[in-house]
Parts: sequence; C-alpha cells; structure tokens
Amino acid sequence: MIIQGMDGKALLKVAIFLCLIAFSTGRELKVKVKNKHHTAIYNHTLATILVEYASAVYVSDLTELFTWTCSRCNDLTKGFQILELVVDVQRCLQAFVGVAQDLNAIVIAFRGTQESSLQNWIEDLYWKQYDISYPGMEGAMVHHGFYSAYHNTSLRPGVLNAVKRAKEVYGEIQIIVTGHSMGGAMAAFCGLDLTVHFGCQNISVMTFGQPRIGNAAFVSYYRERVPNTIRVTNGHDIVPHLPPYYQYFPHKTYRHFPREVWLYDLGFGSLVYTVEKVCDNSGEDPSCSRSVSGNSITDHLRYFGVKLSCDVSAGCRIVMDNGLEAYRRADSDGNVIFSRDISSSVLRMNVESSEEGRSL
Ligand SMILES: *[C@@H]1O[C@H](CO)[C@@H](O)[C@H](O)[C@H]1NC(C)=O
Ligand SMILES: *[C@@H]1O[C@H](CO)[C@@H](O)[C@H](O)[C@H]1NC(C)=O
Ligand SMILES: *[C@@H]1O[C@H](CO)[C@@H](O)[C@H](O)[C@H]1NC(C)=O
Repeated sequence: MIIQGMDGKALLKVAIFLCLIAFSTGRELKVKVKNKHHTAIYNHTLATILVEYASAVYVSDLTELFTWTCSRCNDLTKGFQILELVVDVQRCLQAFVGVAQDLNAIVIAFRGTQESSLQNWIEDLYWKQYDISYPGMEGAMVHHGFYSAYHNTSLRPGVLNAVKRAKEVYGEIQIIVTGHSMGGAMAAFCGLDLTVHFGCQNISVMTFGQPRIGNAAFVSYYRERVPNTIRVTNGHDIVPHLPPYYQYFPHKTYRHFPREVWLYDLGFGSLVYTVEKVCDNSGEDPSCSRSVSGNSITDHLRYFGVKLSCDVSAGCRIVMDNGLEAYRRADSDGNVIFSRDISSSVLRMNVESSEEGRSL
C-alpha cells in the first residue's frame, strides 16, 4: 500500500485523490469506438516473454546485460542478442535494442524509474501536468516529462541508430517495443515515433503498468498509427491510474489508449487464480483496472510473477568490466552507448534460419 511510509501531507494528497477517483468512477459515458477492424490481438505467451525483456532492462550490471548472461536473461528470452545498449547517465535512463530470433523480431525495451525514487515520482504524477503539444498532431497534448525522456535524451538517437542498422540487414522485420512504468510510456512514444517519422510498418507495442501519457486527441492519433498496442495492467497497480482521468472533463484530462489487458486475482484461499481480462477498445474500460482503486505499489513491481525493478536500490550506477570497453562510445554529456556489429554473429544466425525455410 502506498499509505505506508508517507508523511501527513502526502497522505492528505492521496486521500483527496482517492475521493476524486471515487467520484470519477461513478457513471460512464458511452465512448464511440472507431476503426473496429484495427484491434490488437492479445497473446498471453508473448506477454510472458516480453515482461522478461521489460525486467532485464532494469539490470545495472551492463556486462551481464550486454552479453545477455544476467540471471534475468536466462529464461524465455534465451538467445537474445543486444545490438545496442543505451545508458543516459544523467537522467538514469536505460534502453536496449536487439534481435530475438525465436520471435522473428527486433525487440526494444525501456527501463522505468528506479525504485528508490518511485514514491516521489508517483506523487509528482498527481499534480504536475506539464503538457506539451505532440508535433504534427493538432490538439494532441502529452506529458512533458515522458515525452522528453524519450525525445530529448540520448535514448532516441541510440535506439534509432540500432533500428536503422537492423533494417539494413533484415528489411521490414517486425519491431516489438516494450517497457514497464515510465519505460512503458517511453515505449509508446518510441513505437509512435518509428511509425510516424520513420515509416516503420510492423510495430507492436506492449507495456506493463504504464501511466497515462496524453489527452483524448493524442489517443485518437496514437490508436490510428500504432493499432497493435497492448497495455497490460495488474490488480491495484497505482501507476495506470495516473495522471488522473476525469470522465466529466473528457477533453481536458489525460486518457489511456487501447487496448488494456487487466490481470486480477479471483477466488478465495487456496483457489485464487489470475484472470486476464481483455478490455474494450475505448482505452478507459470502466470494468477493467478503473473498476478498482489504484492503491498498490506492490502490484506495480511484479507482473506475471516477474520482478520489475532493480536488484540493488543503490540508485543509478553503472557496473561493467573492461571487456565491454571495445563496444563503448560516450557522448559529451557522459552518456554511454554499447554497440555490437550486426554483420557478425547475428547475421549468420539469420541466414541459417532462412535456409531452413523460415521467412524473415
Ligand atoms: C503467441 O506468441 C507466441 C510467441 O511469439 C507464438 O509462438 C504463438 O504462435 C502466438 N500465438 C498466436 C495465437 O498468435
Ligand atoms: C530538451 O532539453 C534541453 C536541455 O536539457 C532543454 O533546454 C529543452 O528545453 C528541452 N526541450 C524539450 C522540448 O523538453
Ligand atoms: C512484419 O513482420 C513479419 C515477421 O517478421 C513478416 O512476416 C511480415 O511480412 C511483416 N509485415 C510487413 C507489413 O512488413
């Protein structure tokens, strides 16, 4: 529960907020659903794989991460090969781009906020509404902080460079973008960016515990451009409830894009099992996570039983050994990029699989 460990002022803020939520979940106006044919298909198996990528990107030992030997890299994501690992040291952001041969896809993953600063980050989401316009989309407003974390840091050029290199080799291969928490917000901006500004046609986005990132106009652009998006939410996870949605002010408020898949427990005692509810195409299905109060940080930090935070809460630090030096580039701000030549082993694997008759 978020209530624990909060001071009086914060508690008051939460109490006010919960009242607003209670107010806003009363009645629901019918939302007109456009483009019915554009619907993302939820695939449970894929979700359990992608959540492991969203977890791995939290690993702070960069050597283990880059060589894909970390303990979180050893389950359903075995064999993944990172092309580029981008670390924005100043803002404590991290992302990677790589090739998942079994998925036949490029996977891009973004890390969320460090657990040590999560509480502050969540409190800020109640009150700070620094909107900026999304360029080229009339009336679309987005959250400044999330927008900048992707668009105004070393992450975007790092990610784009890797995607460009990958496309030179693989052509129109599928690109899957994922992330947890703020990393989910960045994943959505990345998927939109690749579609709108780089003409990528084969983009899927799946996020876990993602906050709202824009207004209704933004959402209608987003769902047109990146229809293949799944937004997984979990139980009482507080973050998908933020920044708040006020249904009586539909054009003034933040709004989620579809399609939500809500995980919740059903049953009692030893008969508890998890339901995966595929929600309606409005983005704000009142019978999904909005039907409960968002009051849990615990539910935010674990999806499908997978831990989505750093192992050490020592803040932002870089751990690496000298073996990684050969791959390292740094910009003038001290941000680092580790980059692997795509033409070596990845390409060979790919050619072998093509010979077996699998088309890429
Ligand atoms: C779901 O995803 C998995 C992993 O990518 C894939 O093997 C499977 O064929 C997919 N299922 C459907 C019904 O598309
Ligand atoms: C991008 O970052 C620079 C420097 O940190 C800042 O001056 C600028 O206002 C930022 N732009 C946006 C759109 O956030
Ligand atoms: C998307 O990627 C898949 C798998 O790599 C491929 O089979 C399909 O042809 C691609 N679709 C487009 C429109 O490029």
